[in-house]
Formats: sequence, C-alpha cells, structure tokens
Amino acid sequence: MLEKWLKESKYTVILTGAGMSTESGLPDFRSANNGLWNGKDPGKIASTDALNQNVKEFIEFYRHRVIGLKECKPHKGHYILADWEKRDIIKSIITQNVDGFHKLAGSKNISELHGDLQTLHCQKCKKEFPSEEYLHGHFQCSCAGVLRPSVVLFGEMLPEHALNFAADESERAELFIVLGSSLSVTPANQFPLIAKQNGAKLVIINIEPTDFDFHADEVIHNRKIGEVLEDLDRAFKLY
Ligand code: APR
Repeated sequence: MLEKWLKESKYTVILTGAGMSTESGLPDFRSANNGLWNGKDPGKIASTDALNQNVKEFIEFYRHRVIGLKECKPHKGHYILADWEKRDIIKSIITQNVDGFHKLAGSKNISELHGDLQTLHCQKCKKEFPSEEYLHGHFQCSCAGVLRPSVVLFGEMLPEHALNFAADESERAELFIVLGSSLSVTPANQFPLIAKQNGAKLVIINIEPTDFDFHADEVIHNRKIGEVLEDLDRAFKLY
C-alpha cells in the first residue's frame, strides 16, 4: 500500500532516526547488537550535567563520535530522499539525527530536532567551529570557553524553529513515514501522532517493532531502509 499512498499523497513528510544512518556505518542508539546507549546511561554522558561536571569524559565521548562521523557519508537512501524532494514526491524531512547526512545528500526542507554534530560552538561566547576542531585536539575557544557539539544534550530544550517546523509539517501531512526510529524520545515521537490526529496515513519502516506500531496504517519490519527506498524509487522511475 505504501507505494500507492506515496503516489497519491500531495503532502508526504518523513521522520528519520538513527536507523536511517546505520547503512552509512554509524551506530544507532538502542539496537540490540551495537546501540550506542547499550549498557550506558545517556543522561550521564550526553547531558548538560556531564558537560559541566565531567567535561573530559564528555569531550572524549563526542570526539569519538566525530571521528566516526568523519569516516562515514550519506548512503543511497539519503540521496533518494533528496531526489524525491526535488521531484515533489516528499515535502520535508524531520530528523532526530545529528550527522547532517540529509543536508549533505541535498535535501533542503529539513528540521534537525537534535542539532548538528558537524558543528561545535563555544559554551561561553557561542562562536561556531567545524567539528573537525575536535580531531585537531582543539577543545577550547580563545575566550577560554569550552567547545561543545551543537547537538541538543539531555536536559536542554530543542531548537524552537525546528520544533515549530516539525509541528507544522506534521499537521499538514497526508502521509507520514517514519524511517529507522524506535520512537523512544519525546517530543520527536509525538509528530507521528500529530500527523495521524490530523488525518494522515502513518507508515513505520523499522527493522524492530516500536511501541507506536499499533498507531500505524502500515509497518515494515525486518527490511533495511536502503532496500525499501530503492524498491520504492524503482516504482517511481517507471513514471
Ligand atoms: N533499516 C531499518 N531500521 C533500522 C536500520 C536499518 N538499516 N538500522 C537500525 N534500524 C532501527 C533499529 O531497529 C532501531 O529500532 O532503527 C531504530 C533506531 O532507534 P534508536 O537507536 O532508538 O534511534 P532513534 O530512534 O533515532 O533515537 C532517538 O534518542 O538518545 C536519543 O538523541 C538520540 O536522536 C536520538 C534519539
């Protein structure tokens, strides 16, 4: 049914999670095998408390993530979504991912709910730097402030413009597709419900089941997002 709905929908919105980037080589957070949070408490690592009380460990965790990020790049699925936006097959992407891969693949209408790991900023003067600075051992601003990733830490508010954009798009959606998210965190996991409440069809594409599956009009489990998007894209190439 997804192929039919995708062709009929005049306003399709995508919500992506970490499962969108595992085929690029980046780990997700909660997958049974190598989720980043497995056996860890994210509140103790990726939080404002960690930044303020344990800055060495905090920076080491994020330096490690930046190293991984720089070794990876968008995969075919990111490029298919960017092409679909150009062809007006989809309208926008709401992403929980901080890898910047949707932007790098050419998507324009993006809401980055959890910020951007490609950028650092000084905790004191807010000056921005590319996250490569962490690779060169640059952790402090000339004003002596700590350089931190421009991601939303546990305990921080999400960017208002990203939230407003995501809410507007969810309300306008006729078709809302979740790609690679366990839908474990709020407010990101509320947007599929907002779309549904406003009359949209909801499709969840995720290898593992999610707690939101019963809200969905269709779920696709046990298939990789890259394969699903390539199959759908082939159907559109026939037009
Ligand atoms: N194809 C389909 N699904 C996949 C794939 C894939 N190639 N790879 C992983 N998945 C699924 C996993 O089964 C998992 O259920 O993607 C889901 C990713 O879920 P999480 O690891 O919980 O990631 P996400 O939903 O993005 O987490 C949300 O939590 O800690 C915060 O800020 C962090 O943005 C993150 C948020």
